[in-house]
Amino acid sequence: MAVLRSRLDTASAEYAADREAMLGALEPLAALAATVHAAGGERPVARHRQRGKLLARERVDLLLDEDAPFLELSAFAGAHDPETEQPGARVITGIGPVSGVECMVVANEATVKGGSVSPAGVAKQLRALEIAERNRLPVVSLVESGGADLPRQADIFVPGGRTFRDLSRLSAQGIPTIALVFGSSTAGGAYVPGMSEHTVFVAGAASVYLGGPPLVKMATGEDTDDETLGGADMHARVSGLADHLAVDERDAIRIGRQIVADLGWRKAGPPPALPADEPRYPAEELLGCAAADPKRAVEVREVLARVLDGSRFDEFKPLYGTTLVTGWGSIGGRPVGVLANNGILFSEESNKGAHFIQLANARDTPLLFVQNITGFMVGTAAERGGIIKDGAKLINAVSNSSVPHLTLMVGASYGAGNYGMSGRAYDPRFVFTWPSHRIAVMGGPQLAGVMSIVQRGAAQRAGRPYDDATDAQVRAMTEAMIDAQSGALYATGRGWDDGVIDPRHTRTVLALALSAVHSAPVRGTTSYAPFRM
Ligand code: COA
Repeated sequence: MAVLRSRLDTASAEYAADREAMLGALEPLAALAATVHAAGGERPVARHRQRGKLLARERVDLLLDEDAPFLELSAFAGAHDPETEQPGARVITGIGPVSGVECMVVANEATVKGGSVSPAGVAKQLRALEIAERNRLPVVSLVESGGADLPRQADIFVPGGRTFRDLSRLSAQGIPTIALVFGSSTAGGAYVPGMSEHTVFVAGAASVYLGGPPLVKMATGEDTDDETLGGADMHARVSGLADHLAVDERDAIRIGRQIVADLGWRKAGPPPALPADEPRYPAEELLGCAAADPKRAVEVREVLARVLDGSRFDEFKPLYGTTLVTGWGSIGGRPVGVLANNGILFSEESNKGAHFIQLANARDTPLLFVQNITGFMVGTAAERGGIIKDGAKLINAVSNSSVPHLTLMVGASYGAGNYGMSGRAYDPRFVFTWPSHRIAVMGGPQLAGVMSIVQRGAAQRAGRPYDDATDAQVRAMTEAMIDAQSGALYATGRGWDDGVIDPRHTRTVLALALSAVHSAPVRGTTSYAPFRM
């Protein structure tokens, strides 16, 4: 198999500038990670500990196999809206092995607003369940939540109901669901254990009811208390909602691990079949593999040379449609077909991409899309050459391809390029981004310029004067707004991806994701929409 040879000049000023820019972009991420890890902050954490409770992250750590990797997802959900959301959105989600079985773990962060669910938290939880369903991962919920964030109920109530529907549908597909209840699990939240196949309640701590004592008093006039209404002991002995009564949190986690061990769960996809040796070039150099200026082209093979096993890559059609690099490699010993942008997509690239996706489906091989794309080519020559119909072929192939897609966004993701390269709307199993990532319908200056031309034309047609000074002001404001809404942190806050990652971790993250997708069968399709010829 061919091996990629790096031409990256790590002594160049350009490399140094790109590396500096990437390190600078990583700083706010580190600060956010510290905030997320500090959970609710000093006082709520101290109060939580005084109650003899473990923090959500400690529960996750104990649940997972010792020293096992945890692929945390959407760690900065909510970060786009610091006014009303907490970074992390009060819930931890991610994939890690429990008793040797890769599981989706969903853990409420009880020290932040009582673990109540915010709008970003609903979206994050639903995404976790979607990932569990598509990749056939058992779900373990670590529950301690005040239910819906009541003042924000209008943005939670209707979409949030899907959580319980999804849990039920997972079970119906034979994907096990397990709830370990450490504290409050109230109202709609009571349906997390309610819809789970296995439940473990911590004695003296779990309280699970449709309405708490104050609500019961309001509704029926009955005087009652937490324990009688929804305590662990009551549910274990009387209602039957608790399958297991744990003496404390560690016992609950031990029982949870045993339940997973007893599932006898096996991956349905093939095991790794190729050597999983390290790339020939250091991951550290990925820091300088994305352009600080998104308009400057970078060689995507430099990224592949630092991600693929042994830097091995058998390129498909290297001389044709050269701004889309396609070929075969592997990560962590699992084969992948790669489609990676090396510039704008033209007709040739679109046709080559559609062809390659069909080949990967014929071979039941997962696809890795590496996005750095400012869009499909525009202009008279491109239109007359059929760029729409050729782009449609690529989008048709991406839409109907049934092998797992992993999408990595290292730079721009603009326009229909996002669609043709398996953007979030095209259901990739996972989407990860680098801090250098920008996402929008187009770049800020281009969008502001288009609006200016349109508005100037409209004024001319209506015979209205068009003030150049106002135009310049509006352009600058529009550009700043689009810029603010195009960054990696904004995007991940909105849940447009499954996480912003440090470029140096790319291979590890992709290997974990690739392993997770093999929990489900990996099968390609031969069924597409008619290709427009
Ligand atoms: N919505 C919004 N905020 C909530 C909340 C909810 N459902 N539940 C708790 N909070 C907030 C509290 O207002 C408080 O905020 P603050 O830190 O700004 O003061 C913080 O979470 C901690 O609440 P507190 O009651 O002090 O913590 P606790 O650990 O003693 O109790 C609960 C936690 C969840 C048991 C308790 O707050 C509770 O019963 N909440 C209401 C649950 C409910 O009825 N939910 C209905 C959902 S449909």
